[in-house]
Amino acid sequence: MIKAYQASSQARVNAALDSLFSAPSAELARLYEAMRYSVMNGGKRVRPLLAYAACEALGGQPEQANGAACAVELIHAYSLVHDDLPAMDDDDLRRGQPTTHKAFDEACAILAGDGLQSLAFSALLDPRLSDLDADTRLTMVTTLAQAAGPAGMVGGQAIDLGAVGRKLDQKALEYMHRHKTGALIEASVKLGALASGHAQNDELRALQTYAQAIGLAFQVQDDILDVESDTATLGKRQGADIARDKPTYPALLGLDAAKAYALELRDQALHALRPFDACAEPLRDLARYIVERRS
Ligand code: IPE
Ligand code: IPE
Ligand code: MG
Ligand code: MG
Ligand code: MG
Repeated sequence: MIKAYQASSQARVNAALDSLFSAPSAELARLYEAMRYSVMNGGKRVRPLLAYAACEALGGQPEQANGAACAVELIHAYSLVHDDLPAMDDDDLRRGQPTTHKAFDEACAILAGDGLQSLAFSALLDPRLSDLDADTRLTMVTTLAQAAGPAGMVGGQAIDLGAVGRKLDQKALEYMHRHKTGALIEASVKLGALASGHAQNDELRALQTYAQAIGLAFQVQDDILDVESDTATLGKRQGADIARDKPTYPALLGLDAAKAYALELRDQALHALRPFDACAEPLRDLARYIVERRS
């Protein structure tokens, strides 16, 4: 079921994303090409899937969440382009292809990332992507700005880079992961729920508990895969965290305890979804997928 759901959701978000990269003039062709390269190069599209699944869990049609789905993937793509830069993780492989600064150049990659971030907010406001009222859009923009910014993903990345080569305790590691990865995953679920047009406060609270658990589980699994997967499967360099002495869950707890923790977080997420009916099945499948995935 998750395979078919993934395929149809990926096709939906890819079609919407594909419409966003036509250069307004020949002078900007290379910048737009770098943005397109950074987004339309595979990727699991987990955050858009979460947005669609949250919208459906509340009885909405997934198409209503197209703006949300594009926005979270654009922020994610920008974060990866900058994460891979020499000043950050200095990686040369992403989604099985050269990273953007390798395929283009560093300045172009920085600007492509900047451009993708702006496009994300435009996507939330784009009437061609979603038909939503102004109040809903305002809440969505605020939610995404907080999740992507210094109190969210950017803050987490700052902690990550400041912690290289240092030992973090579990509390500090969790704080970092909840920001650098969890914040955008949480926002993906909330934006999808808001796009349904009838999110109640108690439903939003339950979905937030779900999203916080899978957001952390997602990065724990990412850390695990860095240890035990391989470069071809991952599409990014296996062992990069170890080589750069990054603070990770396997480094702190050991591989077995990190795996057990990921499963515990999955169970917390599933527990939070108990009040929801069968419409939340895609969200449940995604929680399982996040800790079982091999790439
Ligand atoms: C990788 O994210 C970066 C993290 C936040 C852990 P994904 O594993 O979602 O990467 P893609 O989008 O599928 O390439
Ligand atoms: C990245 O974390 C989180 C972001 C905000 C991009 P990682 O540095 O672990 O992501 P990968 O392993 O390079 O995909
Ligand atoms: Mg990083
Ligand atoms: Mg990285
Ligand atoms: Mg990683």
